[in-house]
Amino acid sequence: MLSEDRARESVIIALDCARDEAISLADSLSGRACWVKVGMTLFYAEGPSIVSEMHRRGLKVFLDLKLHDIPFQVRGAARSASLAGADILSIHGMGSAEMVAQARAGVEEAAGHRAGQRTRLVAISVLTSMSQESLEEIGVTLPLEEEVARLAALSVGAGSDGIVCSPREASDMRCRLGEAALIVTPGVRPAGSELGDQRRVSTPASAIAAGASMLVLGRPITRAQDPAGAFEGIVRELVEG
Ligand code: C5P
Repeated sequence: MLSEDRARESVIIALDCARDEAISLADSLSGRACWVKVGMTLFYAEGPSIVSEMHRRGLKVFLDLKLHDIPFQVRGAARSASLAGADILSIHGMGSAEMVAQARAGVEEAAGHRAGQRTRLVAISVLTSMSQESLEEIGVTLPLEEEVARLAALSVGAGSDGIVCSPREASDMRCRLGEAALIVTPGVRPAGSELGDQRRVSTPASAIAAGASMLVLGRPITRAQDPAGAFEGIVRELVEG
């Protein structure tokens, strides 16, 4: 069970759509929701101005760019994303501890130009689209769960504020990473809603109970007849537990 304010702060709405639809969703959620997620499709089409457009509507932005490159480049990219206004930014843990540390350095540098407000970093461990077979294909022979735990610990140890994982892994990750880690979980579906292409899902209340700090929900809100109403239903579920 969460307070109403905490519940509103815990839901990140994934705007996986084109600009006009994203703006109209943001208008209908403004004043109710606190967070949206802007992914590569929307960001590459619209650039940094889409982040400001969300901020103007009172919405904080999880910029899901999943940075993965040489450490020098990632430091610059993290700095630029932070200067664009990202409140949370995603990076790939697989890029190495040094890459994560340089991403942290990039957002620290940018904080100097943002009144000390530092973008928080979350690391992707193993993409949920990957299987044991596809890991083996790229030469990783550890069991998938061990690889997730290893990369999560490496990322947080190197300066990431937290990780992105499925709700099913949230409780194990909370135990391993401790109370301070930001644990962000997609793959969340209110009871009775369409799964779409998600397979390993939990309800909002059970994901929070398992230890998630924040939930990413897209289609259950953005494809609803009444997105604001769907968001309020999720807030109610989190408040009631
Ligand atoms: O519409 P839906 O609720 O399935 O959207 C979930 C969002 O979370 C999408 O933006 C998707 O890209 C993202 N995501 C995910 N699984 C991950 C990481 C991110 O579904 N492991």
